[in-house]
Amino acid sequence: MSHPVPLLRSAVQRAVTLEFGDEHSQVDPAVHRSQFADYQADVALRLARAAKLPPLKIAERIAARLELGEVCEQVSVSPPGFVNFTLRREFLERALSALLGDERAGVARAERVETFVIDYSAPNVAKEMHVGNIRSTVIGDALSRTLGFLGHRVIRQNHIGDWGTPFGMLIENLIDGGASADEIAFGDLNEFYKAARAKFDANPDFAERSRQRVVALQAGDPETLAHWQTLVAASRRYFTAIYDKMGVLLEDTDVRGESFYNDDLGKVAAELEQSGIARVDNGALCVFLPEFKGRDGELVPLIVRKQDGGFGYAATDLAALRYRVRELGATRVLYVVGAPQQQHFAMVFATAEKAGWLAGARPEHVAFGSILDANRKMFRTRSGESVKLGALLDEAIERADQAILTKNPELPEAERKKVAREVGIGAIKYADLSSERVKDYVFDWARMLSFEGNTGPYLQYAHARICSILRKAAESGIELGAPRVLVAEPAERALVLELFDLASAAEAAAAGLHPHRLCTYLYELASKFTAFYEACPVLRADSDAQRDSRLSLCDQTRRSLSLGLGLLGMAAPERM
Ligand code: ARG
Repeated sequence: MSHPVPLLRSAVQRAVTLEFGDEHSQVDPAVHRSQFADYQADVALRLARAAKLPPLKIAERIAARLELGEVCEQVSVSPPGFVNFTLRREFLERALSALLGDERAGVARAERVETFVIDYSAPNVAKEMHVGNIRSTVIGDALSRTLGFLGHRVIRQNHIGDWGTPFGMLIENLIDGGASADEIAFGDLNEFYKAARAKFDANPDFAERSRQRVVALQAGDPETLAHWQTLVAASRRYFTAIYDKMGVLLEDTDVRGESFYNDDLGKVAAELEQSGIARVDNGALCVFLPEFKGRDGELVPLIVRKQDGGFGYAATDLAALRYRVRELGATRVLYVVGAPQQQHFAMVFATAEKAGWLAGARPEHVAFGSILDANRKMFRTRSGESVKLGALLDEAIERADQAILTKNPELPEAERKKVAREVGIGAIKYADLSSERVKDYVFDWARMLSFEGNTGPYLQYAHARICSILRKAAESGIELGAPRVLVAEPAERALVLELFDLASAAEAAAAGLHPHRLCTYLYELASKFTAFYEACPVLRADSDAQRDSRLSLCDQTRRSLSLGLGLLGMAAPERM
């Protein structure tokens, strides 16, 4: 083992066991980067209560037990109870050469492999995707890539809204020639939806036909189902086109919409009623749980079956959760859905737990805040409508194209167009991923497309700049692969320590389901690289050995940046 973090972790663990006994072998060594040394372990603070000793004493006893002569130049203890490690240069250089040869850039596979079902994106059929769909799609995709890279099984589920009463009027409008399937797939879906709505409100005959359509749809009338299929298929083509443009992993085969669970809803209701978890209240079948009370102190019902006998959103989610555990074998189920649905999910999870459907699996609501405009209001168009996602993506690409043209007028047009897509989409994704997901954030074109600061373009540009250094080296006939990588200058050391930290960042992002942890890391890495590049000449280094060593550091930084951006779902352009 040569990666410093796992090595220090197991050394600390061994010392703890030797000094305090086997019962503490599971305590987290809590090794991380330190301001005072290279790394520190906070383990003593965690042990203090159980060991009934002051943390500083514990830290001293652990430090005395550590056998790290080969690895550390110094191990010290500081208040309130940190153990600090300063690595030997020789060790760092050896560890670094192992990192350079590692395709995974030091990121180990998870020890315990889970099966993650990730519910994300989930737009509604016959509606245009809008800004509100960005966050779920982007966050879900980053989590799905990161967890997959860590070696977990990932099953994506696009829980599209493809069922419910609006389909009555939508089908009637389709029959009336309101639009063709192609127009629905690639034309203005909002117009189609609005036209159906307007007819429904203005025309009692149309409204009545729509209501009968809903009944026919629910009864499985073949002709009605065929129209419904047309609508759903057209929407799915449109979703796929958007996902392609965004470069997210979701494919048509990941769609398992609300309608998929229709046959299970009756069973779910019957099971909950028989076990006494749900009861009929005012004609509706409801679950009341003591922990869910409204402001008035009254219990809030989770409605499984409505008064009219129909099933809604909650019943579908209960059936979906049961299916995900039972049929898909999920051990973790993630719902990447906005914060306002917090109570809905809490109630669905609690009900499923009570019903015994979870079988040890852990469902989690991966909640996120809203996208706001400059006045901290919901981000909308000037006329107050929700901003269409397709148009927004196009605008991002167009703006990125302008920004790249200004920065690098030399770049051939065909390549600039390709890079503009990567930078424009990347800017939108990064702006979304880089702030803590539960918080709201302000949508700001100028900031997200800036080449300065914690932005997508800054990181992608850092990557492209390193590629250009490596290209120059190659053009002068210098081959990559220094026999020895030297960690001599402080800026080199700082960069190398940062390179080792991709593993911790990916683990932290996965553990808390927080993609921003990876963003913060990549920004830090790019900054350390800039500092290194300013302090340490590469192509004009003092000796060939030094030059080759520094080129290897450039190359590793490039690989780590590209890998990290990839985990976020972003491209790493070679020129821009
Ligand atoms: N289509 C829903 C909406 O627009 C989101 C679905 C989220 N997933 C779920 N299993 N409920 O609000």
